[in-house]
Amino acid sequence: MNKFIKIGLPIAVLGLVSFAQASDDAEKLFDAKCAMCHSKTMPKDRSTLVAPALFGVMRHVKMAYPKKDDAVEFIVDYVLNPTKKKAICMPQKIQRFGLMPSQKGNISQEELKEVAEWMFDNFPPKNFVGRRAGQTGVNSAGKSMRGRPSFESFDANGDGVITKEEFDAFLQARMRGM
Ligand code: HEC
Repeated sequence: MNKFIKIGLPIAVLGLVSFAQASDDAEKLFDAKCAMCHSKTMPKDRSTLVAPALFGVMRHVKMAYPKKDDAVEFIVDYVLNPTKKKAICMPQKIQRFGLMPSQKGNISQEELKEVAEWMFDNFPPKNFVGRRAGQTGVNSAGKSMRGRPSFESFDANGDGVITKEEFDAFLQARMRGM
């Protein structure tokens, strides 16, 4: 047996186990500290949202901070000290939901770092495809739904909130198409 297998393998296995545990804990932390505002899935009734859904948040974070280190640093800082100036989400989101309240005292910096890494690794989900207008093409009455705009056709970035820009862009695209 070579040295690697004797020493390296058990270490690798241990590493895997503790990694899985860490991400499990991170998700639990998110559920306990963030999920009441940031939904992990898109609820059917979007009017109940009190903050952008998690995949929308992470889509914007990754657009501004594609590198994991930068993204994690941003999230940790923002969650403890949110300001309008730092926000990467569209101003309309802040207008609709208000600025995120600082979570200082609610979560420690170390916990937050774990949560931020978990968010970066898992959202938006790799297989995430925004639901598109007329995916089924037919409604329950058997009528063609094509041409009937759905929520998703307005919500261009798929974060569950229709901004004025998204609304105007959609209307303009429609007019051009006519
Ligand atoms: C009381 C509700 C609430 C809780 C709890 C909450 N958030 Fe937020 N969060 C918001 C709102 C509202 C926004 C959108 C406005 C903004 O960006 O400040 C937001 C935005 C964000 C953003 C995007 C920042 C940006 O630049 O736009 C990140 C990242 C974020 N939250 C992470 C978290 C994490 C991580 C937690 C848990 C530790 C958490 N939030 C807990 C309400 C909340």
